[in-house]
Amino acid sequence: MRAHVRVLVPLLAVLALLAFAATSLLNRAARSWFERDVATRARLAVSGAREALASRLATEDRGRLGPLLDAIVRDEHILGAAACGPGGATLAQTRGLPASFACDAVLHRDGRHRRDFDFSDVVGERAVRVSVVPVRNEDEQAGSVVLVHDMSYAARREASMRRLTLAVFGIVAVLAAFLTVLSQRVSWRWWTHELRRVLILSTGARASRSSRGPFQPLLADVRRMASELVAEESRASGGPWSAARLQRMLQRSFVGEGVVVVANREPYLHQRRPDGGVEVMRPSSGLVTALEPVMRACSGTWIAHGSGSADRDTVDRNDHVTVPPGEDSYTLRRVWLSEDEERGYYYGLANEGLWPLCHAAHARPTFRASDWREYRRVNERFADAVCQEVSGPDPIVLVQDYHFALVPALIRARLPRANVITFWHIPWPTAEQLGTCPFAKELLTGLLGSSVLGFHTQLHCNNFLESVDRFLEARIDREGQAVVVGGRESLVRSYPISIDWPNRAAESAPPVEECRRSVLAELGLRPDALLGVGVDRLDYTKGIEERLLAVERLLERSPRLRGRFTFVQLAAPSRSLIERYRQLDQGVEALVARINGRFASGAWRPIALLRGNHAPEAVFRFLRAADVCYVSSLHDGMNLVAKEFVAARDDERGVLVLSRFTGAARELTEALIVNPYDLEEASAALATAVTMPAQEQEERMRAMRGHVAEFNVYRWAGRMLADAARVRQRGRLSDRLSMGPRSVESVEEVHG
Ligand code: F6P
Repeated sequence: MRAHVRVLVPLLAVLALLAFAATSLLNRAARSWFERDVATRARLAVSGAREALASRLATEDRGRLGPLLDAIVRDEHILGAAACGPGGATLAQTRGLPASFACDAVLHRDGRHRRDFDFSDVVGERAVRVSVVPVRNEDEQAGSVVLVHDMSYAARREASMRRLTLAVFGIVAVLAAFLTVLSQRVSWRWWTHELRRVLILSTGARASRSSRGPFQPLLADVRRMASELVAEESRASGGPWSAARLQRMLQRSFVGEGVVVVANREPYLHQRRPDGGVEVMRPSSGLVTALEPVMRACSGTWIAHGSGSADRDTVDRNDHVTVPPGEDSYTLRRVWLSEDEERGYYYGLANEGLWPLCHAAHARPTFRASDWREYRRVNERFADAVCQEVSGPDPIVLVQDYHFALVPALIRARLPRANVITFWHIPWPTAEQLGTCPFAKELLTGLLGSSVLGFHTQLHCNNFLESVDRFLEARIDREGQAVVVGGRESLVRSYPISIDWPNRAAESAPPVEECRRSVLAELGLRPDALLGVGVDRLDYTKGIEERLLAVERLLERSPRLRGRFTFVQLAAPSRSLIERYRQLDQGVEALVARINGRFASGAWRPIALLRGNHAPEAVFRFLRAADVCYVSSLHDGMNLVAKEFVAARDDERGVLVLSRFTGAARELTEALIVNPYDLEEASAALATAVTMPAQEQEERMRAMRGHVAEFNVYRWAGRMLADAARVRQRGRLSDRLSMGPRSVESVEEVHG
């Protein structure tokens, strides 16, 4: 609709201008035709009686001039006439002649004209045209005849001509508007049809068979080339990325070095149950989803804040516990934080300061000096823990996320040869936004202690480089994607994070049909119900309110879905000591109640809000049962729920509706990509999703599954480790060059 308005308004404005110009041009032309016509008629009227007029004017025969003039004014368009003698005196005039046009008003005493031969004037409200026609007797001027023409007929004709012109333009405008809308619709349909065809066909085997569509060969070629490149790289370096390949590359590049992960969130929490027993919980965290399979593959140590109520009771005297329970693949080292430390470092600086700073989601960051003190202290404590856990001078340390921006430099100060790989799991703000943080320089310097610093997207890398440029004295090597400070280089690159593939949770889940049956029964829904699902921490960046409003809009615009479509939102409470999160929690609750109150009928409710920390198995059951999964983040580094949905659908069914403000939208291009703020667009996508033919669902899902399978989390970790190995190799070579032959020996001694 808005597109039509954008085209129609200027079109109609141009037509109105044209109509205006045309009517005034036509008026002017018509007026001059009328005037010429009147002048000719006046001359003809006088010349018909010229001889009689000339002799009676010459003899000033007033009595016989009258009937002559009466005969002339018989023409209904002539109001009156006067016969003027050679000296300009009125010799005779008809009754209707207005006084202002008597001979002495028009002519001088010598008979010359006071005014033009033909001029226009107004009498009362009536337009008139006055003609002065000289009458000659042989060679002398015998006098003149003044004729006053009634021009109101011309005004009437002009008015009807104006009306006609406007009517014609009106019809043209309506036709043009109609044709514009029609042609836009037709071409839009054509485009969307073509685009759909190109996307669908280029994602599946049909692409190679088809030769239709202007972009299709190009897109299909690009996709084919991309997968050939990936396949070639895979062949050359040991097959597709998997846990086994990651292990092999670790062995090859970092012989004997164990991996140490530093992340605030622990992969397993021990919680005290009300009955006194202990249960193990998995937190709702994209970071844990991604890192846990990597740690299973690499083994080593994961250092995290011990936040479970029974965590202290389950560690050994070094604060270690082996996980996953029953599998014992790696060690979890717990760090204990005091209440003040947790409040200042985690709730304060990390989640009231850095989290809103990095997300464009309309929450104002708060930076408190006291929080910054705690943040620094906790970062130092984690750096201490790293140094306690490593066994050699050049360990591999994977520092995770915005909780630990200072840790890389703290480790570097103590272990100059450490391979510090830092990954920032959330967006990086623009330099301008970062400038609002009083600790910007310290954060940047801290992060540049890394050998490799990773972000999800190139845009975030660019923002980081701009920030370094703005706030630090450093050399930026844009071509090499690196920053050099004090002669030491940190690579700054994008490594889009992913999930494990083959996916453990999907592989151990019950069949799709069973998931669907049990989920529908649990929600009290009929077997042919349509099910939408959302899975998030209760966080204001996730767009949960916008998502619910889109569901409301869907039910407004598609009444036939009432009673049939249900959206289930799995919502894990998060950071609930922070006011903004409490507000969100209440806001979501109230919104669900309002929408349910508006549409509920009988036992059916459009929205089911399931709060709680859902285990991965439970989440996958819902993902497998759903017809549509809507990920509506307002700003998100990646969003792994989108990739988990794809992993869950080994039946190649289900439609992903995905916010364009997620990192995932750059990869999962076969999803229905929407702007979550645009409720019309989002609800239209939901409507398209629930009515999408099975074949199209399969083609889209197959393409997305192919992508996630190739670009899995082992590849993510493997690429960062490979880059760190290259940085280390370069460092060693330049050490040798600068030290000379004697020192080379000692370096080699150290490295064995
Ligand atoms: O997305 C940022 C992030 O820190 C993730 O890395 C993590 O999955 C999520 O937020 C969880 O947050 P928290 O650890 O505060 O519960």
